[in-house]
Amino acid sequence: MRDDKKQGKKPNKDLAVKYVNPKSSTLNPKQQSRRDFLEGTGTAVVAGAGISALGLPKAQAQTPPTGSRTAINVTVNGTPHSVDVDDRWTLAELLRDELDLTGTKIGCNRSECGACTVLMDGQPIYSCSQLAVWADGANIRTVEGLARMGSSLQCSKPS
Ligand code: FES
Repeated sequence: MRDDKKQGKKPNKDLAVKYVNPKSSTLNPKQQSRRDFLEGTGTAVVAGAGISALGLPKAQAQTPPTGSRTAINVTVNGTPHSVDVDDRWTLAELLRDELDLTGTKIGCNRSECGACTVLMDGQPIYSCSQLAVWADGANIRTVEGLARMGSSLQCSKPS
């Protein structure tokens, strides 16, 4: 409608938005109540839920696509491992889920808390923000390895 009335033009009714009242089946937007709109919307939501309940699209949504895999060799706490890892896995996932070294915790999962810290070639890193494939050929030490070493470590007392 915009400026058509100001300019003396007749509005083009073919371009006007038309509303359908499901009860009266008229095309007058003023006759559609909020209740009619909500009832129509509710019907659409229930129909969508029914389709999801059949399991057609949901089954595809729950299965994440598998990424490509890479074989890596890592030494963890002195033990060499050859592991076929998904390229998306973090080092923390490799340690926890594949090697059952659950002493490495995942806290924030975004390089803020340090709960996932391990030693890679002697340097502390956040394993939540390192891809497992980046650890190929590395020497990893986790808290389990530090615990095993604990009895053989000598701590010097401050004087
Ligand atoms: Fe918090 Fe890795 S889980 S830094």
